[in-house]
Amino acid sequence: MKADVLLGLQWGDEGKGKVVDVLTPAYDVVARFQGGPNAGHTLEFDGKKYVLRSIPSGIFQDNTINIIGGGVVFDPVLFEEEARALEASGVDIKKILKISKKVHLILPTHRLLDAALEKAKGDSKIGTTGKGIGPTYTDKVSRQGVRLGDVVGGDLSKYEAARDRHIRRLAELTGAAPDIAEAEAKWLKALEYVRQFDIIDSEHEVNRLLAQGKKMLCEGAQGTMLDVDYGSYPFVTSSNTITAGACSGLGVAPRNIGEVYGIFKAYCTRVGAGPFPTELFDETGKTIRDLGHEYGAVTGRERRCGWIDLVALRYAIMLNGVTRLIMMKSDVLDGFSEIKACTAYRVNGEETRDFPFSIDAGIEPVYTTIPGWKTPLGNMRAYDELPDAFKAYVRFLEEELATPITIISVGPDRTETIIRD
Ligand code: GDP
Ligand code: IMO
Ligand code: MG
Repeated sequence: MKADVLLGLQWGDEGKGKVVDVLTPAYDVVARFQGGPNAGHTLEFDGKKYVLRSIPSGIFQDNTINIIGGGVVFDPVLFEEEARALEASGVDIKKILKISKKVHLILPTHRLLDAALEKAKGDSKIGTTGKGIGPTYTDKVSRQGVRLGDVVGGDLSKYEAARDRHIRRLAELTGAAPDIAEAEAKWLKALEYVRQFDIIDSEHEVNRLLAQGKKMLCEGAQGTMLDVDYGSYPFVTSSNTITAGACSGLGVAPRNIGEVYGIFKAYCTRVGAGPFPTELFDETGKTIRDLGHEYGAVTGRERRCGWIDLVALRYAIMLNGVTRLIMMKSDVLDGFSEIKACTAYRVNGEETRDFPFSIDAGIEPVYTTIPGWKTPLGNMRAYDELPDAFKAYVRFLEEELATPITIISVGPDRTETIIRD
């Protein structure tokens, strides 16, 4: 059996959590492959809203195994908070969640380093989520990281060495060694809680499950434009958010990848700093933010809003090998009489449909204007019910992107979803 992948094609927050939850009944396993608690995946059903950060979005279906794969960076403290909240709402999480021994641990000092490094950057801040993601992946790549499997047996020597190294670095950066006693005690206590879970060799488990014919969905975090290799570098996260990241993060061979679901909003958002060619600084941008409730699920920060960028989407589809597209938040554009879509960039006076090396400056989006549908989509549940103007927008996008749109989301709730195939 091949593993399917679902990932974001823009700058994150496309609605991955909602769709993974919708698709989970068709899967036996849902697995996160990269990122960490910088993610905030929102699910809504039965009048309740949940935000997941490290735990896969398949967690609300009793019969689904959820795996936190080895490519993830993992904060025991935030995990405990998240897991206890789920336990309190009746999810038997210890039964259905497994955690890889290979996850790299986010230490309290990684979070301090994240903050200190951002501060040191001054005007060129990335606007990170402050969760210690960059410093943790930096330690991983520089071969100084601490994995869950390193400490789970009780030997804390690797942790202590990393902590002491970080404290020396923090003293250099900030002029004083931080007092981490309280944060450390909390972290060690949370590690005890984590020990109660099934901590596994996830690459073996994942391949065993596939060999047994189990259906697996790999859940991405962030989005393609935040990928460390192909995103708007350096304004990116520190992991591979693309399909290749599912292979490395879970130990799935490339030939064992099946469908790749690429998810995008009917417009575009970005949170944090960095270039955004189609960003709207006017009333339209503000209207999209208000109607789409575009505020960060984790940080509460205002999301920057703009028109859909088909140049960036085509690039993302190419990098990921997307086989099916999923369009989210279509309802947010219900009231617009005209919608714009960026079909090309003008760079130094020349038009290009190819995503350039840099989108920092001198990029002018070339727009196509499409008539709006001016009809509320929220109550529609079948493709046939949708207004003709909306269907024309879907066809336009499918042609521009050369990929079918198979799921359309018309509201945040699980039920507000139209599946075409
Ligand atoms: P993720 O990080 O990709 O899982 O996305 P987030 O959860 O950070 O952000 C998506 C936001 O949009 C959440 O608040 C969702 O509840 C909401 N949402 C998802 N799909 C739709 C939709 O089709 N319409 C509207 N109006 N909201 C949606
Ligand atoms: P989900 O999974 C949107 C952004 C941050 C910042 C940059 C680097 O919910 O889509 P980091 O803390 O990772 O070092 O921050 O990446 N970022 C996200 N933006 N959605 C996310 O996750 C994000 N995770 C990180 O705002 O610009
Ligand atoms: Mg999010």
